[in-house]
Amino acid sequence: MVKKKACIFISGSGTNLRSIIKNSRDYNFPVNINLIISNKKSAKGISFAKKFSIPHIILDVKKEKFEKIAIKELIERKINLVCLAGFMKVLSKNFIRNFKGKIINIHPSLLPKYKGLNTFKRVMQAGEKITGCTVHFVDEKLDNGKIILKKRVLVNKNETPENLKKKVQLEEYKAYSIAIRKIYNLS
Ligand code: GAR
Repeated sequence: MVKKKACIFISGSGTNLRSIIKNSRDYNFPVNINLIISNKKSAKGISFAKKFSIPHIILDVKKEKFEKIAIKELIERKINLVCLAGFMKVLSKNFIRNFKGKIINIHPSLLPKYKGLNTFKRVMQAGEKITGCTVHFVDEKLDNGKIILKKRVLVNKNETPENLKKKVQLEEYKAYSIAIRKIYNLS
């Protein structure tokens, strides 16, 4: 199988990145991780790029410059899929139009519920009994594009937002790679 080329955008700890890299080592996985871009030089996830010898670029600059350089790199390297994994910058409409249908994101809630930040705290304040994560295509509105896959997590009584985050993230690690297989019709 000829694998597609993927680039992962990160801003932080990169634990989703780590799980996608590990799954991408399977010869049946539809994409290779050819590039990692971080918009934060302090992002811990950069260590996974180094550990797995994957080319990485740190673009800790204003959005306009970030996007200009990122677009150039994605085109030059013939990247087919951009995966946002804990990437905390909102991409411009222009950027999204350049890669229409080729950008996906993971969000820590069952979209369309709880778009935006602080999802775990808001889920608990609302007394939800079930939450989870969603992998979706990115369109021009925040946390809004076509949903590829959701995974559910039970919210226990006496749960803390920190514990809930850990539980949801364990599901994220499975969900992201299943979603990537799904968009290439492999699951
Ligand atoms: C993940 O839980 C992801 O769902 C969330 O950031 C975390 C990043 O963790 N993304 C968002 O909140 C996007 N709005 P990671 O850097 O360890 O993968």
